[in-house]
Amino acid sequence: MSSYEARFKVWRGDVQGGDLEDFKVEVNDGEVVLDIIHRLQATQAPDLAVRWNCKAGKCGSCSAEINGRPRLMCMTRMSVFTRDETITVTPLRTFPVIRDLVTDVGFNYQKAREVPAFVPPAGLGPGEYRMFQEDVDRSQEFRKCIECFLCQNTCHVVRDHEENKQAFAGPRFLMRVAELDMHPLDAAEETGLDRKRTAQDEYGLGYCNITKCCTEVCPEDIKITDNALIPLKERAVDRKYDPLVWLGSKIRRR
Ligand code: SF4
Ligand code: F3S
Ligand code: FES
Repeated sequence: MSSYEARFKVWRGDVQGGDLEDFKVEVNDGEVVLDIIHRLQATQAPDLAVRWNCKAGKCGSCSAEINGRPRLMCMTRMSVFTRDETITVTPLRTFPVIRDLVTDVGFNYQKAREVPAFVPPAGLGPGEYRMFQEDVDRSQEFRKCIECFLCQNTCHVVRDHEENKQAFAGPRFLMRVAELDMHPLDAAEETGLDRKRTAQDEYGLGYCNITKCCTEVCPEDIKITDNALIPLKERAVDRKYDPLVWLGSKIRRR
């Protein structure tokens, strides 16, 4: 096993402010960035705050920015960097820092609560649902989400514009709306809930200008933009310009 000494810069601080701190730390074959952060805790910075759970890319806890790129620390191999490179680890930029590498991601839980759940179809019990395989596959792609919030952190609509957070749910939750809107058994419309309208009016679908940065950082390789956001935009536009829907809404308003 070979080992070497790497140079790290890690952001230390809290809500009052902070700065990058320099470290030299041992790296061994096969290690990932989270291993190095743990070694720093064990040897040089016992109070370094970091959130993690699975170390297997499945809990979504260890999101951070490594050399400026949003990534999971446990899935970023040290071998992707050259040995003389300085590796900079900073907290997610879009969410408020609690301490060191730990941010308050409560914004995302708030947005999750705002999306109404699947509405079961009337007259069908559990086990009686039938769907085409392609509908199952579509939902399953979206269900791979590990809620790491890297996409939420990366989307420029909120990353550069704090003021948009109120009006924009972000790619992860627009994807959830898309999943439900395209679900063949979701009975939301029968209850008067128009998911396409809420996507536009309440979750800020129109803010998304399909830059695809969310898709690029997704560790589960979910095609967020192509398979969720663009189809949802198309469905919302179809709804708006469908002459029968337009006539229906005029009649209802009388
Ligand atoms: Fe993370 Fe991908 Fe889920 Fe976004 S869609 S929260 S990037 S797993
Ligand atoms: Fe943002 Fe993704 Fe749209 S990065 S602008 S939600 S395509
Ligand atoms: Fe669970 Fe990294 S520790 S995804």
